[in-house]
Amino acid sequence: MFILKKTFIEICIFILVLIAVITTISYVNNKKSTNEDNAQNVLDDAENNSNLPNTHNNKILVTYFSRPGGNYNVGNVEIGNTALMASYIVEYLDSSSFEILPVNAYSTDYSIALEEASKEKEQNARPAIKNEPTNLEDYDTIFIGYPIWHGDLPMIMYTFLENYNFDGKKIIPFNTHEGSGSAGTFETIKNKLINSNVNTNGLSLKGSIARTDEGKQETIKWLKSLGY
Ligand SMILES: Cc1cc2nc3c(=O)[nH]c(=O)nc-3n(C[C@H](O)[C@H](O)[C@H](O)COP(=O)(O)O)c2cc1C
Repeated sequence: MFILKKTFIEICIFILVLIAVITTISYVNNKKSTNEDNAQNVLDDAENNSNLPNTHNNKILVTYFSRPGGNYNVGNVEIGNTALMASYIVEYLDSSSFEILPVNAYSTDYSIALEEASKEKEQNARPAIKNEPTNLEDYDTIFIGYPIWHGDLPMIMYTFLENYNFDGKKIIPFNTHEGSGSAGTFETIKNKLINSNVNTNGLSLKGSIARTDEGKQETIKWLKSLGY
């Protein structure tokens, strides 16, 4: 009788622990998708409003390139790591945004994308951009965000930097990576945009961190350190 009672109590404890574990996992998953849903809304709203600078912080534009799909350490994602980071900046500054979209989308398969990017780098290519930023001349501060690809800026970022006039503007770079940090790209941007005021105190976050609340808080801390 005593043994039966003990077993019953053990089973009850086991069930309670199981319920607690399942509840925690579903809370974490929900929170993650809420963060991503929010990022998409923030970016859609800011992109739509880039034609109407007066409805947002009319002097700041957050531009970014980010690749959705399979990526190192984060699995298959609908919103890229850099796009999430851009959404934190847009939300905090109430700025407009512009997503740099390639004419030929990169593969959502991580290994294929690695090859595509490697080929572009070898050829020093300038992949075409599908869309145009509106009213670039209306902004005096431009954030530029991108992932590190093969220890460098993705080649499409060279297209972006070379195709538009950033003279006299304040440029603030940010990036995501999986170990390379900024890989000297803040200096690369400074060297390319010689008539702009490029702030080399950009922020580099690991892509996997950029997807978490810790990444969001790091981004806000960085913006505050820049005086925002
Ligand atoms: C084609 C390609 C090349 C990459 N090369 C590097 C690299 O050299 N160094 C590094 O730290 N991470 C590298 N990564 C990882 C990305 O920089 C990292 O996952 C980043 O957060 C992706 O951002 P995104 O989701 O905004 O595209 C590479 C990823 C891809 C797809």
